[in-house]
Amino acid sequence: MRVCVTGAGGFAASWLVKLLLSKGYIVHGTVRDPSDEKYAHLKELENATQNLILYKADLLDYVSIVSAVAGCEGVFHVASPVPPSKVPDPEVLLEPAVTGTKNVLKASVEAKVKRVVVVSSIAAISMKPDWPKGEVMDESCWSDELYCRTTENWYCLSKTVAEREALNFASTNALDLVTVCPGLILGPMLQSTINASSLVLINLLKGTRETVENTTRNIVDVRDLAEAMLLVYENKEASGRYIVISHVINTRDLIGLLKRLFPNYNYPKSIVEVEEGKVYSSKKLQLLGWEFRSVEETMKDAVEYYQSAHLLE
Ligand SMILES: NC(=O)c1ccc[n+]([C@@H]2O[C@H](COP(=O)([O-])OP(=O)(O)OC[C@H]3O[C@@H](n4cnc5c(N)ncnc54)[C@H](OP(=O)(O)O)[C@@H]3O)[C@@H](O)[C@H]2O)c1
Repeated sequence: MRVCVTGAGGFAASWLVKLLLSKGYIVHGTVRDPSDEKYAHLKELENATQNLILYKADLLDYVSIVSAVAGCEGVFHVASPVPPSKVPDPEVLLEPAVTGTKNVLKASVEAKVKRVVVVSSIAAISMKPDWPKGEVMDESCWSDELYCRTTENWYCLSKTVAEREALNFASTNALDLVTVCPGLILGPMLQSTINASSLVLINLLKGTRETVENTTRNIVDVRDLAEAMLLVYENKEASGRYIVISHVINTRDLIGLLKRLFPNYNYPKSIVEVEEGKVYSSKKLQLLGWEFRSVEETMKDAVEYYQSAHLLE
C-alpha cells in the first residue's frame, strides 16, 4: 500500500499523511524544499521514520512529480495555492492549479496508478450568480468560469478549471479519478505555519476586523476531510465528485458559539447582515459512510491548538 500525497506539509495534507501512516500506508510526500523546518512536523508523525519518504517536487516540474509518483498505487493530489487574500495576477494561481494537476495526472497514468483523489473545492461549485435562492447545490453544479473571470475571483477559477480538466483528462485516459470539494477547512493544525483558512478563524478570535459580514460558513473539520479522502480512495463504489461539508453556520452564530466556549477573546464588535449564502448537500459522501464530528468539537480543538501554539497573543 504505497501512495503519494502532493503538498504533504500543508494543512489538509498533513492530516491525511498522519491518517495514512496510522493505517500502515507507505507515503511518498511531495514538498518544495525538504530541508525547510516548516515540514518538521511530518517527520514526527507516528510511523513516519519507516513509512514516510519526502520528495522534493514542484507541481510545475513534471520530472520531479514523476519521481514522487513512481511505484505508487494511489495518488492524493492535495497541493494547490490557497492565498489568504485576493491576488492580482491570475497566473499565480492558475498555472500551479491547472498545469500542476495535469502534471500529476500524466505522471499517474505513466506510473499505472490505480486511483487518484484530487482535492478541488466548493469554489468549483458555488460561483453561480443566478442560482435560485435556498435551492440545494449538489455535485452536478459547476461554478460559472466567465463569472469567476469577470469578478476576478482567480482562486475559484483556478479550482474550477483544474477540476474540470482533471475529470476530462481522466475520462480520455481511462484513469480512475475521484474529486472532493471541501468547504472551509478548520480544526487543529499539525504544521507550524498558519494556512489561509485557519487564519479566518484566528482573525475572528483576535477581532482583527471590528465589523464583519454575516456570511454563511460551510465548514468541514480537517480531520473529517482526511477521513473523506481516504474513504473515497478505498471504497470501490466511489466515483465522480463529492462535496465535503459538515456544518453550515452563519458568522453571527459562529461567533456566538465561540463566545460560549471561549468568552475572553476580542470578537468583532458589529456584524452586518448580507444576503444568505448557498446551501450544499454532502449526502453523496454520507451515503458512502462518511461521518463527521460536531462543530463544537472542531472549534474547541482548533482554538485550544491556537492557544497552545501562542497564535492568539
Ligand atoms: N483551506 C480551505 O478552506 C480549503 C477549502 C477548499 C479546498 N481547499 C483545497 O485543499 C487543498 C489544501 O489546502 P490547504 O488549506 O491545506 O492549504 P495549504 O496549507 O496552504 O497547503 C497548500 C499546499 O500546496 C502546496 N503548493 C502550492 N503551490 C505549489 C507548487 N507550485 N508546487 C508544489 N506544491 C505547491 C504548498 O506547498 P508548500 O508547503 O511548499 O508551500 C502547500 O503544501 C488545496 O487544493 C485547496 O485548494 C482548501
